[in-house]
Amino acid sequence: MPIEPQVETGDSAVHYDTAPVLFERMLDRNMNYSSGFYAQGDEDLDQAQILKMDRVAATCGFQPGQTLLDMGCGWSGPARYYAEVHQMNVIGYTLSSVQRDFAMEKARERGIAERLDIRVCSVLDAELPDESVDHVIFFESIIHMWEKLELFQLCHRALRPSGMLFVQESNYDRNSNTDKFRSERGFQAVDDVFGNTANMVSTGEMMRLMEEAGFLACYTENISNHYKKTLAQWSDRLDLHAAEMEAAEPEFFPNLRRYIMLALATYRQEGTLCHMTAAQKTPNNWIRRTPV
Ligand SMILES: C[S@@+](CC[C@H](N)C(=O)[O-])C[C@H]1O[C@@H](n2cnc3c(N)ncnc32)[C@H](O)[C@@H]1O
Repeated sequence: MPIEPQVETGDSAVHYDTAPVLFERMLDRNMNYSSGFYAQGDEDLDQAQILKMDRVAATCGFQPGQTLLDMGCGWSGPARYYAEVHQMNVIGYTLSSVQRDFAMEKARERGIAERLDIRVCSVLDAELPDESVDHVIFFESIIHMWEKLELFQLCHRALRPSGMLFVQESNYDRNSNTDKFRSERGFQAVDDVFGNTANMVSTGEMMRLMEEAGFLACYTENISNHYKKTLAQWSDRLDLHAAEMEAAEPEFFPNLRRYIMLALATYRQEGTLCHMTAAQKTPNNWIRRTPV
């Protein structure tokens, strides 16, 4: 059974409609708003985000010319990277026209606008012909979406038979802890700023929903330590640019900083974990391509 909303949830649209200038100071060069991957441990934010995106590409077998669906694409850091470096055609969904405009301006500057199709629309209303895309990614966006089963069913219809579904998301260590964490101090504060975090589930539950939609899960990896490091690097950058950011967005900046600090605290206490999980549409002898 899907977990039903039980708490007042914040509005994630407010978070993502905030001027990108604030997030440009905090995030990496590509504006990825999700965990990086630290293969050696001493990578900077830019390197870690590229390593993460390449790891996902290798795991799923992204190929030039393929169509990638990015559900909850943010400022399109990943979408633009896959369009430019992996030469894919990317369809991205976001609720924010501010994010879409930012992404398309950057894409035009890099000469990749024709490979990027950013739609301001809820993923639930996505109109996608059957078997029209090669891969689907959700990078830390499905937390905002209550209707996970319907979404996975939609992805299943839209994917070609060899297609891969890839989810990177924060989660509880087990689903039975959901209510406990929701009642903790700080939860509502995070939710007020970030929006809809009440819809976090465990990775086991995420895989169960994938299976129910017809997918076969073939890989999962705990990247909690990587997300801890990413959050710590975001936090350092917030400190570095605090005066400038506060002057630009006096109301939003303290909320953003509080949200990042609380998120980092829950990761340090291991109340929150982060997993990357891939599933295939049909059993097709999936082989992990990424070196360990
Ligand atoms: C944490 S950001 C992740 C951004 C991006 N995936 C990345 O890695 O940089 C979450 C994104 O999900 C989008 N989002 C949330 N709910 C959505 C919905 N129902 N339909 C489409 N996008 C949604 C937000 O607009 C935002 O762009």
